[in-house]
Amino acid sequence: MNNNLTSMPEPRRSVAFVGSECYPFVKTGGLGDVMYALPRALTAQNCDVKVILPRYKCIPWKYQEKMVYRGSFTMDLCADGRRYYVGIMEYVWDGVVYDFIDNEEFFSWGNPYTNLVDDIPKYCFFAKAALAALNYMDWIPDIIHCHDWQAALVPVYLRTVFEGTRVAFAKAILTIHNLRFQGIYDIPTVKYWSGLPDYLFDYHVLKQGVDDANMFKGGLTYADMITTVSKTYADEIQTPFYGEHLDDHLRYHSGKLCGIVNGIDVEQWDSETDKLLAANYSVEDVLVGKPQNKMALQEKLGLEQDPDKFVIGLISRLTDQKGLDLVNAILPNLIDGNTQVVILGTGDARYENSFRYYENTYKGSVCSCIMYDEGLAHQIYAGADALLVPSLFEPCGLTQLIAMRYGTVPIVRETGGLKDTVQPYNMFTNEGNGFTFDRYEAGLLWEAVIRAKTLYFTGREYWDEMVIRDMEKDVSWDNSAAQYRALYMMLRP
Ligand code: ADP
Ligand code: GLC
Repeated sequence: MNNNLTSMPEPRRSVAFVGSECYPFVKTGGLGDVMYALPRALTAQNCDVKVILPRYKCIPWKYQEKMVYRGSFTMDLCADGRRYYVGIMEYVWDGVVYDFIDNEEFFSWGNPYTNLVDDIPKYCFFAKAALAALNYMDWIPDIIHCHDWQAALVPVYLRTVFEGTRVAFAKAILTIHNLRFQGIYDIPTVKYWSGLPDYLFDYHVLKQGVDDANMFKGGLTYADMITTVSKTYADEIQTPFYGEHLDDHLRYHSGKLCGIVNGIDVEQWDSETDKLLAANYSVEDVLVGKPQNKMALQEKLGLEQDPDKFVIGLISRLTDQKGLDLVNAILPNLIDGNTQVVILGTGDARYENSFRYYENTYKGSVCSCIMYDEGLAHQIYAGADALLVPSLFEPCGLTQLIAMRYGTVPIVRETGGLKDTVQPYNMFTNEGNGFTFDRYEAGLLWEAVIRAKTLYFTGREYWDEMVIRDMEKDVSWDNSAAQYRALYMMLRP
């Protein structure tokens, strides 16, 4: 065997990420985390990565002021040939190049999303401008890696109106982070704004139902490869329950579909160095550090200060995806004098209001922070004993990964990435990372919480061992970034 082969440097690959959000510039959920962490992990694995994003007005000034003008041009977009300004503002940070597509008309409001009436034109423009910008900069990557429906027209444009231009050399990957949102609108509107030719508004590409166009569907058709963010979700979305009306389309394209589970950036999420915590701790002193963070959290939120209370955290967008109906159903039963519940999230009014109601009713035991607060999120991950993620569906889920990294035991429903990342506790072998339940039923969530509480209050040494196992679990991007890299190599050998 030739030993030199193993020591040969891996060939370099260039990748353009295209997506609608990226921490720390703009983030509404896990997509923002992935767009930040995966490019960094790929850079460490011999990839050149450019991240293409909209230059939203809501991006904090401290980043805007560091952006450098890279050039501009005008681009035709709509069916009537209307032309738009495309500016490119560049920001280079830690080996990753961020190119922000600038256009006041599309990106001046929203946080970053508003409603489909505005968002459909916005992301037609963004997808086309991203490809035009690559041609303009003459930076032709091996791979264009697109994320969710907002970037789904990229593969469609690439293989149609951009065919014959330099950027068409690139292969396209489309990653599904959440199939719930697809960019669906009536055909005339999408046809007008995208300027795409009539033949694409066919059932195999963009057409859906009687007279709608579905941007995600078109992207799935034209992508060279489709990935999603866990193996279980890759299977689930091929069934009617999880498929959001695209299950047949995905089954048809299943030959180019695979699941690669997300990781988290272990430098960003590190309890040993996290400046937002009351006390830093590592796996060696977690049993001391966690109660300190718990007490600080209780004090900050006006909860009864007692390190022996069992503190359950929930950090989430407040939508029906996240299993909040189950939480609502069992919350009053959780409050028994030994348990506290801390909720951090924003979203649907019905959940915001019910959680406010519970805070009022159970003052001192329940705290509902109806807001988006990065700092408080870190403090809850560190200060809580357990984190609830009882989702109806969960493509991957990052909060359970962050929780484990901070020694907080996840209580999750066995779906999507939750199933793939949380091994259920086995009381006979003393193995596992958290507590799980399968069917979407409040009674089963309740039982899972009771199992967790029982271990916490009556078998603390086993609980503590689980905390340590969780902190030692590899939740980094290393492994998954290597799988993406292998995919890039397969598409562009
Ligand atoms: P999703 O992308 O479906 O919202 P994920 O679990 O993948 O779910 O990612 C959620 C991310 O958003 C995590 O980083 C979590 O900490 C963060 N997050 C969610 N809600 C809030 C909030 N209200 N304040 C701060 N961070 C939040
Ligand atoms: C989506 C999913 C979530 C996933 C995230 C990042 O928002 O809801 O499960 O972790 O994208 O891939």
